[in-house]
Amino acid sequence: WRDWSSDVCSSDLQLLTVANNSNPGLQRLSEQSKRHAESDAEWVANWAKEQAVDLAVIGGEEPLGAGVADALEAAGIPTVGPRQAAAQLETSKLFTRELMERHAIPGRVEFRFFADPELLERFLVNTDKQFALKPVGLTSGKGVKVMGVQLASVQEAIDYGRSVIHDRIGGSAGIVVEERLVGEEFSLQAFVDGETIVPMPLVRDYKLAYEGDTGPNTGSMGSYSQPDGLLPYVTASDRDRALETLHRVIRALRADGIPYRGINYGQFMMTVEGPRLVEINARFGDPEAMNVLALLETDFTDVCIAMTRGKLPDIKIAFAPRATVCKYVTPLGYPAHPKTGSPLQLDMAKIEALGVKVFFARVDQESNETYKTTSSRAIALVGIGDSVMEAERMVEAALAHVVGDYHLRHDIGTQALIQRSVENMQRVLAGVAVR
Ligand code: AMP
Ligand code: GLY
Repeated sequence: WRDWSSDVCSSDLQLLTVANNSNPGLQRLSEQSKRHAESDAEWVANWAKEQAVDLAVIGGEEPLGAGVADALEAAGIPTVGPRQAAAQLETSKLFTRELMERHAIPGRVEFRFFADPELLERFLVNTDKQFALKPVGLTSGKGVKVMGVQLASVQEAIDYGRSVIHDRIGGSAGIVVEERLVGEEFSLQAFVDGETIVPMPLVRDYKLAYEGDTGPNTGSMGSYSQPDGLLPYVTASDRDRALETLHRVIRALRADGIPYRGINYGQFMMTVEGPRLVEINARFGDPEAMNVLALLETDFTDVCIAMTRGKLPDIKIAFAPRATVCKYVTPLGYPAHPKTGSPLQLDMAKIEALGVKVFFARVDQESNETYKTTSSRAIALVGIGDSVMEAERMVEAALAHVVGDYHLRHDIGTQALIQRSVENMQRVLAGVAVR
């Protein structure tokens, strides 16, 4: 885009993609789709330069952590996605907690860092509080264990902490132990251009594998958002407080000489003290990206260019005031014993006729409409309606056109599950919460 104008529209785009795996969705949309290690910064930058790419967008935390943005920018390519130093917000839980502490940022959480398993044990034995135990680095969302949730006793917490330190889970021989937050979670994603931060609609995602919010953690099983961009247990002023937390984090980085450009995504717990930060990610949420991008009315390309140029205040970013529900089709037995190679047949025309969007995660394409499961999540279905209820029903209707064996949480987006959050929040605010 030699000239940035808001009438650059998607039809003028040529999309080139690099990914570790071949993805049927990306393949369909891309002029060229390369299968190559996403985190091979030098290769990605050289290839992008060779192809005379105008703008790069980095999707995942692994390449961000590997410095792919640094390499692309060094090659003169405007890039959406923070450089390695700024991506530490996601790649190091310790970095974020220390930054928030140093700058006294509201919404922060008390924490300790242990590299010595004996000190960790002494600490856990001598307190009756509950904690969340977190490896320092990336674990694909599967390394956090919370006492009272995944850890049934102090001994289990000690054993888990020891194994994280000993096996260097998440890449370093240490563990972050932070106060256990009690409340209801929400995701706040934002566009950031180094200084200005523009929020997207709030999303609730569900990370636990089974219905009724039980079972092991997964990458996430689905999500919903409301037409007003808020949630039944998060008011506009709560949202603004959460946004202030993210804004303060971005300003703190800047003050430390580390500008942040790209998508920023805070996971918050709505607690009796207001929104508190569970973790920050340096990218869109999965599945939250699908909820919000399905509603974005402004051309995404324009938003991307504005982020790379520090020009977010110059464009108006609008989201349709509609509800979304996303549910993930995953292999039977997911996440512990996923059944791989199991066929899934999709009637795309019928699904799309219902107004439901299909996003491919990790599936192999067998033929035109037949896919095979891998060990990961397979396909996301997103319904967009005037209410969460309507969007939820759309997804369920679309499932009639997905044939095969799979595991899916039918409860996501239902009134009953949402009501549970509302009631739990009431208990939290009354000081009698259990989770
Ligand atoms: P994370 O990988 O940091 O997103 O953590 C995964 C999940 O663990 C979060 O979505 C929360 O449900 C839970 N979690 C993380 N930190 C805490 C905490 N301090 N207190 C309670 N739950 C937490
Ligand atoms: N929604 C969880 C994640 O993207 O990390």
